[in-house]
Amino acid sequence: MGSTLLLEAQEVSKYFGGVHACEGVSLGVREGTIHAVIGPNGAGKTTFFNALSGFYYPDRGRVFFDGEEITRMPNWRRIERGMGRTFQTPSIFPELTVHDNVALGVRSKAGLAFRARPPSGEQQAVLERRVDELLGFVNLVRFKERPVAELSHGSQRLCEIAMSLSTEPRLVLLDEPMAGLAESETERIISVIRGLHDRLGLTVLFVEHNMRVVLGLAEMITVLDRGRILAEGTPSEIAANEAVRDAYLGKEVLERV
Ligand SMILES: Nc1ncnc2c1ncn2[C@@H]1O[C@H](COP(=O)(O)OP(=O)(O)OP(=O)(O)O)[C@@H](O)[C@H]1O
Ligand SMILES: [Mg+2]
Repeated sequence: MGSTLLLEAQEVSKYFGGVHACEGVSLGVREGTIHAVIGPNGAGKTTFFNALSGFYYPDRGRVFFDGEEITRMPNWRRIERGMGRTFQTPSIFPELTVHDNVALGVRSKAGLAFRARPPSGEQQAVLERRVDELLGFVNLVRFKERPVAELSHGSQRLCEIAMSLSTEPRLVLLDEPMAGLAESETERIISVIRGLHDRLGLTVLFVEHNMRVVLGLAEMITVLDRGRILAEGTPSEIAANEAVRDAYLGKEVLERV
């Protein structure tokens, strides 16, 4: 378990008109850990993620990645530095095949996306190996030539994770990677998220509503409520926290864990 902070938010606030979607949120994600952000609908989780990833900039506060301030760094530059993310709503091209979706990401990492000349045979081979490696990691090799639209929701989500890995991130931000999935599909995503950490050694920050998943996967949990931090701690600390129980979780959920 690393002790350096890979990602750090200091007093991050984001307002939409009069709505304080995020208010003074500070959080540190230690390198090599799986960290979860939970909280009721509208708590500000997605807003906070967007402020971290540069989808928009915070109105107040600062964000650091690997010790460097990135508060107002453009999104693409953060990706270059090693931040990857998936969105709460799918961001894949459904009419393209699984292969082509992932190849898009790999090509842009290799700087081959917008060049007039086609890649050389050698470049193409390297690219194909990388696509296979990523699809292997998320167990989608057998669907390689299928349009993404034909896949189950769970497989689509895995395709997105493979795409986010194509930029070779050190940190992966996942906003509700299991939203709307059947229980059987949830297990596939859980094991891939575990693999991001155990097999690839990546740092993961994710938003998730399913408490069984969160308590089983995360080493550290931050609870947001109405834009502010309500609690932070290990799964057992969060499960025992009175304020968290009252505000959000419902006792029966925690007693089953
Ligand atoms: N682009 C926007 N314009 C105006 N208000 C917004 C915008 N995005 C979010 N909000 C408001 O900010 C608050 C936080 O929303 P956010 O989507 O961050 O919550 P969330 O915790 O991700 O919720 P959910 O669990 O439903 O995904 C809500 O009151 C929401 O209506
Ligand atoms: Mg959200």
